[in-house]
Amino acid sequence: MAFKKNFFWGGAIAANQAEGAWNVDGRGMAKTDVTTGGSVKAPRMVTYVDKDGNKCKAPSHHFTLPDGAHYQVFEDELYPNHDAIDFYHHYKEDIALLKEMGFTMFRLSISWSRIYPTGEEDKPNQAGIDYYRSVFEELKKNGIEPLVSIWHFDTPLALEEKYGDWLDRRYIDLYEKYVRTIFTEFKGLVHYWLTFNEINNTINFLPDTASDEDFQNAYQHLHYQFVASARAVRIGHEIDPENMMGCMICGITYYPLTPDPKDILHCQHTWEKGIFYSGDVQCLGKYPTYAKRLWDEHNVKLDITEQDIEELAQGKMDMYTFSYYMTQAVTTHKNDDVVGGNMSFGVRNPYLTYSDWGWALDPDGLQYYLEMIYNRYEIPLMVVENGLGAFDTVEEDGSIHDPYRVDYHRAHIKAMDVAVENGVDLIAYTTWGCIDLVSAGTGEMRKRYGFIYVDKHDDGTGTFERKRKDSFYWYKKVCESNGADLD
Ligand code: BG6
Repeated sequence: MAFKKNFFWGGAIAANQAEGAWNVDGRGMAKTDVTTGGSVKAPRMVTYVDKDGNKCKAPSHHFTLPDGAHYQVFEDELYPNHDAIDFYHHYKEDIALLKEMGFTMFRLSISWSRIYPTGEEDKPNQAGIDYYRSVFEELKKNGIEPLVSIWHFDTPLALEEKYGDWLDRRYIDLYEKYVRTIFTEFKGLVHYWLTFNEINNTINFLPDTASDEDFQNAYQHLHYQFVASARAVRIGHEIDPENMMGCMICGITYYPLTPDPKDILHCQHTWEKGIFYSGDVQCLGKYPTYAKRLWDEHNVKLDITEQDIEELAQGKMDMYTFSYYMTQAVTTHKNDDVVGGNMSFGVRNPYLTYSDWGWALDPDGLQYYLEMIYNRYEIPLMVVENGLGAFDTVEEDGSIHDPYRVDYHRAHIKAMDVAVENGVDLIAYTTWGCIDLVSAGTGEMRKRYGFIYVDKHDDGTGTFERKRKDSFYWYKKVCESNGADLD
């Protein structure tokens, strides 16, 4: 196997999908606290009260709170992220299991509203800081390097109500205050930071049929996050020159469905809009040439200042990190054989099989992505999410046989190995949901990714007991052999 001696093997979770304890120790709310469960067919809904006091629900994707409305938790709704898998109270037990598997890296996120409950306090919430310090110390004690996402889809809800979803320049300063706090407090404990999880989602999941106003908002939202991200990179380096700062991109490999030159061109433009736009700004420090075409296509006029341009140039990433689950075929031809559920994932690729949630299974696409991206930026890469969301069955004796999960990871690790052999500087692999957690897309528990099973269910029942699946023992061999033993 080609992996370096100090390659990081591990797994990943996010605060809102794992911690639970949504209203404990002074934490403020985030959007996920007013988001119900859903399924592959039914979207997750946000709950709110309109200006006349009526209880309302609306699909959470691309939701904008109407004027005069307020987000609200309703007693007769179930909010899966409220308890999640209660990592907040189980972290010691969980870290012991990760250590047993041989993890050398663990990716987790900080909940902004645990540190600044409304985002606008002058002083941080000490209980939130103490909590994360204990988690990082526990990881250190167990020889596991934390990889910390600063923002994983969880802006404090109070800010969302006041300023909309990153549509206000004031977010940049509020995010700066938050990052200064965590960089200072956790200096020496954390060295690997990711500024915004899947920052490109704002634009790559926006359908071409969306209105010009939606595109205007999406590109503006992204611009403010790019500046906030670049500022965090600069401040991260100032506070601790040992900090390694990374972007985090939702990595999708796009293929043209046919050799029609129009499909090839369409595919290239899909890469530009969905993947390269966000990577180029964050890794090259400036907007690419094709940005003007993207904006012009939808009459987008951005609020970009001279200072923003300077900040982008000063905040280039040390590493490119990405999630990888699937590939998508795109075409300009009429084709109704689309895949996915309440979110569209392109047209069906006849050469691939699909998961129960409609995600294309394609390890070759990971090799393609790794080589494409490394050739473009030539900075270290990390695969910080990869995994199979699947139904698991607990047998009568408590065992969980999940050969499908082992097959999935084995194939993707082999693909990484070939890319490394071909010269890609890949430094880490953290599988998604190494401990089962709440799905971000559907809010389900039964869409399980973990090597560790958690007794928690979609109807809110469960003991939170942890169990080792068969894949736990397999991944332990992988970690301990540095990827050499994949049998
Ligand atoms: C990524 C996110 O999009 O994919 C995670 O960073 C998410 O938060 C993961 O959980 C898998 O998606 P899902 O919808 O299966 O949870």
